[in-house]
Amino acid sequence: MRAVLPALTLAALSLPFIAAVPSDAQDDFLRSERALYRRNIVTDGSIASSYDYVIVGGGTAGLVLAARLSEDANTTVLVLEAGDTGEAVQDKIDIPVYTYYNSLVGTSYDWAYETVPQPNADNRQIAWPRGKVLGGSSAINGLYLVRPSEVELNAWAGLVDNGSIWAWNNLYAAMKSSESYSPPSTTVQDTAKIEYANSSHGFSGPLHASYPGYMMSQVGDWEPTMNAAGFQTSANPDGGEGWGAFVATSAINPANWTRSYSRSAYIDPLPPRSNLDVLPNATVTRLVFTNATDGNITATEVQYASASGAATQSVQVSKEVILAAGAIGSPQILMVSGVGPQDVLEAAGVPVQISLPGVGQHLQDHIYAEVTWKTNTQTSASIYYANYSSNPPDVSSPFLSFVNSATAYVNFSSLVSAPQTYASQIAANVSESAATLVPSQYSEVIEGYKAIYNLTAQTLLMSSIGDMEILLTLTGSGQYNPQTISIQAALQHPFSQGRLYINSSDIFDYPLIDPQYLSHNADLVLLREGLRLCRDIGNTAPLSSVMTEEISPGSSVNTDDEWETWLAQNFYTEYHPSCSCAMLPLSQGGVVDANLKVYGTTNVRVADSSVFPFEFSAHLQAPTYGLAEQAASMIKGTFVNLNSQTNSSSTSTKPSTSASPSPTGSVDGKSNGALSSRTPVFPSSAAAAALALLAAFVL
Ligand SMILES: Cc1cc2nc3c(=O)[nH]c(=O)nc-3n(C[C@H](O)[C@H](O)[C@H](O)COP(=O)(O)OP(=O)(O)OC[C@H]3O[C@@H](n4cnc5c(N)ncnc54)[C@H](O)[C@@H]3O)c2cc1C
Ligand SMILES: *[C@@H]1O[C@H](CO)[C@@H](O)[C@H](O)[C@H]1NC(C)=O
Ligand SMILES: *[C@@H]1O[C@H](CO)[C@@H](O)[C@H](O)[C@H]1NC(C)=O
Ligand SMILES: *[C@@H]1O[C@H](CO)[C@@H](O)[C@H](O)[C@H]1NC(C)=O
Ligand SMILES: *[C@@H]1O[C@H](CO)[C@@H](O)[C@H](O)[C@H]1NC(C)=O
Ligand SMILES: *[C@@H]1O[C@H](CO)[C@@H](O)[C@H](O)[C@H]1NC(C)=O
Ligand SMILES: *[C@@H]1O[C@H](CO)[C@@H](O)[C@H](O)[C@H]1NC(C)=O
Ligand SMILES: *[C@@H]1O[C@H](CO)[C@@H](O)[C@H](O)[C@H]1NC(C)=O
Ligand SMILES: *[C@@H]1O[C@H](CO)[C@@H](O)[C@H](O)[C@H]1NC(C)=O
Ligand SMILES: *[C@@H]1O[C@H](CO)[C@@H](O)[C@H](O)[C@H]1NC(C)=O
Ligand SMILES: *[C@@H]1O[C@H](CO)[C@@H](O)[C@H](O)[C@H]1NC(C)=O
Ligand SMILES: *[C@@H]1O[C@H](CO)[C@@H](O)[C@H](O)[C@H]1NC(C)=O
Ligand SMILES: *[C@@H]1O[C@H](CO)[C@@H](O)[C@H](O)[C@H]1NC(C)=O
Repeated sequence: MRAVLPALTLAALSLPFIAAVPSDAQDDFLRSERALYRRNIVTDGSIASSYDYVIVGGGTAGLVLAARLSEDANTTVLVLEAGDTGEAVQDKIDIPVYTYYNSLVGTSYDWAYETVPQPNADNRQIAWPRGKVLGGSSAINGLYLVRPSEVELNAWAGLVDNGSIWAWNNLYAAMKSSESYSPPSTTVQDTAKIEYANSSHGFSGPLHASYPGYMMSQVGDWEPTMNAAGFQTSANPDGGEGWGAFVATSAINPANWTRSYSRSAYIDPLPPRSNLDVLPNATVTRLVFTNATDGNITATEVQYASASGAATQSVQVSKEVILAAGAIGSPQILMVSGVGPQDVLEAAGVPVQISLPGVGQHLQDHIYAEVTWKTNTQTSASIYYANYSSNPPDVSSPFLSFVNSATAYVNFSSLVSAPQTYASQIAANVSESAATLVPSQYSEVIEGYKAIYNLTAQTLLMSSIGDMEILLTLTGSGQYNPQTISIQAALQHPFSQGRLYINSSDIFDYPLIDPQYLSHNADLVLLREGLRLCRDIGNTAPLSSVMTEEISPGSSVNTDDEWETWLAQNFYTEYHPSCSCAMLPLSQGGVVDANLKVYGTTNVRVADSSVFPFEFSAHLQAPTYGLAEQAASMIKGTFVNLNSQTNSSSTSTKPSTSASPSPTGSVDGKSNGALSSRTPVFPSSAAAAALALLAAFVL
């Protein structure tokens, strides 16, 4: 059974399922204008028989790669996307508030996955929405743009050989190159008390990053309330300082108050390109391989079908296959194609091409729960239902652009009373946890669990890094209970890791998703304490002046046991599944190397949110855009490693000083020529190298 969200949890990022079904044909003018944007989208199913690059998945990362790789007119690029174009429901993609109250979550534009029953969630099967449409999850998400912190990206860089490609300097540059930032209007900035630094932003990238055109006054209460509760404001949240309280940027185009997502940002503005085809309604069913030398395999063909049972079609690949099917789709495609854990593949009846035990493993997610109050003020829900829900949506209305993004990332020490003692207990538990909590028989996967665990344990006492997101939600509890305000706590660095796996060779049978939520006790303790903090913050002025009564969980929940019992029934995903094709050494159950290449293949990469090796204290779309920009420049050979000058163990490659059309500059066209090399690190010591790198950031 699908877990239906109870009304009380329909806040912020839990997009309501309640959907009045308005007419889709409200604005013929817009519709005909949109028709102009179909230039590179194939609507009659006819494509060429062979392409240089076949990108699997036209989602957040996939369309970035498509636009960037097809900049080279001599390179042919095909995108195969399982979902439709989205044009029939364009308003539900474009108009920010409208997408919250008329969400595509739960419709045919959502894969609507769910987890297997979770023992620590009262055996609930938790809904895992994912966009199934051009733009992927960027077309249906909550629009938040939040970047990881500098320490997290540098820690990632330390996990794999040649990982400096992914260090802060480089991914920061890539995230900037993806965006065009517009500061808030003076009124919105003053109302919400927004702080920002222009130097942390890009101004000529495809994705619009800005703020709504309308601001609720309660957002302006957030930072003073957090300050009164003992937390600082982050003056530069997008510059690697993502802790403290701030108002996040949103993926909004201030020219017409629409959502900016990978399709509208990267594909629609392109002129017709004869070397680019984007094919919707094309679910990739399998990659076909031939044997290369050294036991590696080479993908030569991609098979796809329009629906389950429809005829399979195929297209040849002359250079590379790039998987960008997301944290669920990418590992599933590898597995049905014979690349994955041998035990899983054999049980599903899939012939093993490459035994790669980490595929689908190391699965991590952010989970949240929330404390809710009745309020005597307006919320975005009360305004929406009173003023806007009965009229056709008007993109030009500033109110309809409202996305509340007042948030904060607080540290471990703010959550528990004896942080040093508790942190060392957690750190000491790595072997015991690895021995009991890893859902794999393969030693490599267990080593990877330890590496991620150890790194996470090491960050607990650090400054400059958040551990729990605390998020204000003014979205109300849907139409029937709009007069509520909630504060959410969302666990950012879980010690619990799960897996997803196939039990069928048919791509149309959903994989089984088992995140093993709260299997590690520290996750439960931290989330419980995060919720206590939410209650304290809601009782702190000035925000407390608009809260009339706590209605959930309410006054009957106070002790640890009471919170934990309540939590089991009331946490949900924050929609950030990741790490299922983790970039780690092969000896740690890695799936891709630092160049995003799938181990054992000569020409298959994964470039999407599945490759992050651990969860960041951030929402995932900003790092996914950065990753995709970086992947594209890597594949094009124009990548410049900004870390190579300061990294003593790197090559002497210097960033190009000449002006370049490439987002991150250009070196002389040699494929991957600019990647730095670190002193070779044996995989078993990669975790130690990561920790040494992290240790440098401890105050
Ligand atoms: C409801 C919701 C709210 C969210 N809110 C936020 C937010 O506010 N801020 C934020 O930063 N992040 C948010 N996220 C998370 C963020 O959107 C995702 O982490 C990110 O977009 C993932 O990008 P991706 O490229 O990895 O995958 P996706 O964007 O999901 O793209 C994968 C694409 O591959 C396609 N695909 C899958 N399998 C196949 C196949 N077999 N053949 C062909 N195509 C296939 C899919 O249809 C999809 O288009 C939210 C996510 C959801 C679902
Ligand atoms: C995709 O399939 C749906 C359902 O069959 C159909 O309505 C739609 O027109 C198709 N889209 C394209 C671009 O072919
Ligand atoms: C275009 O690509 C082809 C095949 O990949 C190659 O032979 C040719 O030299 C390229 N031309 C240019 C101008 O780069
Ligand atoms: C950012 O740049 C804009 C445009 O130049 C300018 O109006 C604004 O004052 C700048 N803001 C800050 C905080 O520097
Ligand atoms: C909003 O503006 C962008 C260009 O900045 C355009 O691509 C998009 O189609 C517009 N959307 C609507 C609904 O007008
Ligand atoms: C590759 O070679 C192995 C061993 O010879 C064989 O079992 C396998 O089927 C081959 N795979 C492909 C894709 O040809
Ligand atoms: C909603 O409608 C009320 C009553 O007409 C009006 O006073 C208020 O300004 C409107 N609010 C918004 C945000 O449109
Ligand atoms: C250590 O692991 C054991 C077994 O998984 C668990 O019971 C205990 O709570 C853990 N301790 C900490 C501090 O997480
Ligand atoms: C975890 O990291 C510490 C160093 O901080 C190291 O001493 C320990 O051996 C590591 N444990 C494992 C299991 O990797
Ligand atoms: C944790 O956060 C609190 C509150 O912002 C701050 O006072 C403290 O210095 C932080 N601790 C570390 C280790 O940074
Ligand atoms: C695979 O798992 C699903 C969900 O548990 C189940 O319905 C289905 O019967 C399983 N299929 C096989 C072949 O075991
Ligand atoms: C595949 O190729 C890589 C180098 O590209 C090599 O190190 C490896 O041993 C080869 N064989 C397998 C099975 O990965
Ligand atoms: C790291 O980069 C160097 C230089 O490009 C290369 O020789 C080496 O094989 C790379 N190592 C890995 C594991 O990719």
